[in-house]
Order: sequence, then C-alpha cells, then structure tokens
Amino acid sequence: MKNEILAYTDGEAYPFHMPGHKRNISDGLFPYKLDLTEIDGFDNLHRPEGFIKGIEDKAARIYHAQRAFLLVNGATGGILSAIKASTSRGDKIIVARNCHTSVYHAAELLGLRAEYILPEPATDDIYGRISPTALERQLADNPGVSLVIITSPTYEGICSDIKEIAQICHSYGAKLFVDEAHGAHFPFHSAFPQNAMQCGADIAVVSLHKTMPALTQTALLLTSNREMVQPLQSALSFFQTSSPSYVLMSCIENCLTEKWDFDGYINRIHRLENSLRELNNLKMLFRGQEDYDFGKLVISTQNAGISGIELADILRKRYNIEVEMAANGYIIAMTSVCDTDCGFDRLKNALLKIDLNCSGGWSDNFRMTFELPERRLFPFEITRTKAVDFKEAQGMISAEDIFAYPPGIPIIVKGEVLSAELIGYITALRGSNVNIISSADSYPESILIADL
Ligand SMILES: Cc1ncc(COP(=O)(O)O)c(C=O)c1O
Repeated sequence: MKNEILAYTDGEAYPFHMPGHKRNISDGLFPYKLDLTEIDGFDNLHRPEGFIKGIEDKAARIYHAQRAFLLVNGATGGILSAIKASTSRGDKIIVARNCHTSVYHAAELLGLRAEYILPEPATDDIYGRISPTALERQLADNPGVSLVIITSPTYEGICSDIKEIAQICHSYGAKLFVDEAHGAHFPFHSAFPQNAMQCGADIAVVSLHKTMPALTQTALLLTSNREMVQPLQSALSFFQTSSPSYVLMSCIENCLTEKWDFDGYINRIHRLENSLRELNNLKMLFRGQEDYDFGKLVISTQNAGISGIELADILRKRYNIEVEMAANGYIIAMTSVCDTDCGFDRLKNALLKIDLNCSGGWSDNFRMTFELPERRLFPFEITRTKAVDFKEAQGMISAEDIFAYPPGIPIIVKGEVLSAELIGYITALRGSNVNIISSADSYPESILIADL
C-alpha cells in the first residue's frame, strides 16, 4: 500500500477530495502529504477487495485466523463490533469483571444482561486468570448465555487457559470473545504464549499500537469462525469511521511485513530480568510464571515503603523515565521490540538506585476487595438520574461507571449499589493520586444515582 500512496501523492493529481489539508502543509512533523481517503483505486475498508483485503489476508495468516479486519479506531471499535455481531438485544452474556470499559459500553448500548465473573486474585491488588471451573459453574447456573468475554493477557500480562475456556464455552453453546489487546506480539515469537485464535477462541481483538511498532489506533479484529465473518463485517460499519486513515492502514501493513528482531528483544528482557534479581525492596512480579507475557515489567512497591504512584513520580522526575501505568501498589513498564539496550539500561540503573534508597515496608490499605458489588439494575434499565453528594451516596444505585484510568476497569458499574466500603475505597484511591474517572462530569463532588 505504501508504494501506491507514494505514487499517488508524488503524482500530479489535484486532490478535490478529503482530507481538507490537501497534503499541502509541510511542517516536517505530520504526514499530511500521505494522508488519503477512499479515492478510486484505493479499495474500501468496509468492502475490501484490493490491497486492504491483501493486508487483512496477511494478518489472518499471521494470527492463525479465518479472517482478519483492519481497525483504525483502536481495539475499542473492534470490541463494540465483536459484541454486536455475536449477540441479540436482551441476551445474557458472561463478562470477566476486569474487562475494559468498552465492553461495558457495548453491553449498555446493546441492551445485554451481563453476569460478571471475577478473575482469581494474582496478588492483593492485581486480577489474575479466569478459573475454567468457576466459568463452567457460572455457565451451568445461567443457561442460554450466548457470549463469554474475557481479557487475556491482562494489562499486567497474565494469560488465562484459553484452550480449556473455549472448550467449556462451546460445550454450553456460547461463543468466546477474547480481548487480546495487549497480546498483538504473541504470534511473532514462539517464546510468547499461544494466541487466542490458536487456542480456539471464536473472536479476538489485538491492539497493534500497544505492543507492536504501529501508530496509535491501529488494531485487528480476528475470527476463527467462518459464520462470524459477515456479521462482523456488518457490525464494523456501525463502529468504524467511514473515512479510514490510509496512513494508519499502511502502517498496519508495514507492521506485519517488516522483519522485527524479536530474538534481540527477548534476550534484552532476559538480561534485564537477571540484573533486577538484585532488587531488595522493589520486586518484579510474575517472572518465570507459565503463560505470562514477560514483555510486561510489573514492579511491586508493596514492600518498598513507597507507593506505585510515588515510584512512577521518582522515575519521571529524577530519571526522565515515563512508565505506562502506576497503581497504588505497583507500576507497569511496557516494552516492545523497538526498545533499545540504552533504554533498558536506564530503567535497570534507575530501579537499582531507587531500590537502595527505599526504606522497605508499606501498609496495604488499598487491598482490592475481589467481591462484586450488589447489582439492582442493568445499565440500560436506568432511565432517570439525579446528582447527590458522593459521600452521602451510600446504599444508592450508581448511574455512573467509576474506574481508575489506566487501566479502565470499572470499580462500580451503573446499576450497582454504592456501599460504604466502595465509597471509602474510591476515596482512598483518589487520596493517593490514582486517576479516578467517572462517566459523568459531576464527580468527585457529586455522583449521579438512579432516580427510581
Ligand atoms: C484490555 C484492553 N482492552 C481494550 C483496550 C482499548 O484499546 P484501544 O486503545 O486500542 O482502543 C484497552 C486500552 O487500554 C485495554 O487495556
């Protein structure tokens, strides 16, 4: 696709078409010159037959899928589409509670009755795997579930046993959709866990931009199920833009075509792991664990006398290192095949120095509850709302999703009861500078509750 873009954009054709910058701005920073839309000969994302289809076929081969679709609105557009394509209004679905906020949006928008499954705790404050046994119990208790949605790998890199989970789902007549947004790199080296398509998931979504060399918003929707191809294509037309960026699509092609040095990347990670064995107070979590994405560096501060937020702050201010995410008790540093030895050395040296200065010991006030709040209404059943003081909201039904961002996993979902514990937990998180986001503007002073 890159050659066609260059041939057209280097040529004489005058663009009486979008985009409005007419590729006539040259500030050396933004790729205006290459920015095209669907003109003749450039295929159509919503009915691909030419080079867009070629890129999708390549993606399908790499990801062991029956069919792949390019996504230019991030994994989010693929998640909304996958859920629309595999359910009907009113369906009962099972959702892992650590799913991304877009899954909750889809359930509300599509009028789905979501039952939640809690992942097993991996630590005091990190969700782990989905237990196949617990899922089977939940499917048995909820006959007629049409779709099961889980996140694997999680933000922290923990993978569930997709093979077993897929078999269980299918034996109950349910499809399995895996949010594999953080696992786009899995098929590029055998040292990573097998990808969801190889393990029997019906549908999966991967965010190329998260762990592969690709521009922000690039992602793929994948299916192993021939019957899902048409429904997915049709659902994508609801949630993907009708003006897809050719720069983004061409970037996906490049990402899938280049030979990236994964051997070098993996060696670099193992060298870093070895050096960080010297840490006394900070601790690298999950290393050596089976079915783990070792490209994620999760560093616990639980016994270091500082919080994850403070560690991220020190890394930023004293060492000029910005990490992906800081939670109360840990940080996540995301790595990729594009990292350098120099970058890894800086992180290693910074962590070793900070570790030396840590006092050790830390109270675990912020332990997650790993319990589901009581649900009184499904989100789509809430018709009227009113604002109340957040601290006075105990026992009321929230009309907002409230989550820490990142990772965008709801602490409370619309329709659930705001218990005293939840109000205390959210207030404590805010107090320790965790970025709490609510879907209404009124938070934190007030909160929207269901006005029954
Ligand atoms: C697990 C998970 N799924 C989906 C998404 C959404 O992906 P995107 O930003 O590509 O839309 C995210 C974003 O952080 C995520 O962490």
